[in-house]
Amino acid sequence: MAAQLPKSVLFVCLGNICRSPIAEAVFRKLVTDQNISDNWRIDSATTSTYEIENPPDYRGQNCKRKHDIPMNHMAQQVTKDFATFGYILCMGESSLRYLNRKGSEKNCKAKIEVLGSSEAQKQLIIEDPCYGNDSDFETVYQQCVRCCKEFLEKSQ
Ligand SMILES: *[C@@H]1O[C@H](CO)[C@@H](O)[C@H](O)[C@H]1NC(C)=O
Ligand SMILES: *[C@@H]1O[C@H](CO)[C@@H](O)[C@H](O)[C@H]1NC(C)=O
Repeated sequence: MAAQLPKSVLFVCLGNICRSPIAEAVFRKLVTDQNISDNWRIDSATTSTYEIENPPDYRGQNCKRKHDIPMNHMAQQVTKDFATFGYILCMGESSLRYLNRKGSEKNCKAKIEVLGSSEAQKQLIIEDPCYGNDSDFETVYQQCVRCCKEFLEKSQ
């Protein structure tokens, strides 16, 4: 049997404290539950500098406790990841534009897509819950669960 190459995915949003740490945690839980976490390198990052080294938003932490998804992250900026990740998945169109622009300047090997493009319902954009409440974070969580499942199936 051919050795299975590790796959890699980086989840990206504007701050790396609301949406992308949830997506990262959801995807990690998914591959852990399927016993295939050794096949995957998983991380998340921000397109900006606003929140670097900050932990996930407290409402995301509520979501983590509610759904029992391990989440242990400090915000970091997208830098050399274009050459080292197989997939870079972002939450909305402004991040997609930023990543495509940055990726074209670097040695980009990553497939850059919006996470929502994996979803059958094609909602595409995962809205920033930053100015919302716990139920907006719950919506983000549910979208991430659907999209991560579809992405994982697609990438097997
Ligand atoms: C993963 O491994 C555990 C423990 O070995 C096992 O109980 C479970 O059925 C496995 N899950 C899958 C999806 O293979
Ligand atoms: C969250 O905000 C929305 C709209 O602003 C409101 O309808 C909803 O009841 C709020 N939910 C919670 C759990 O506070």
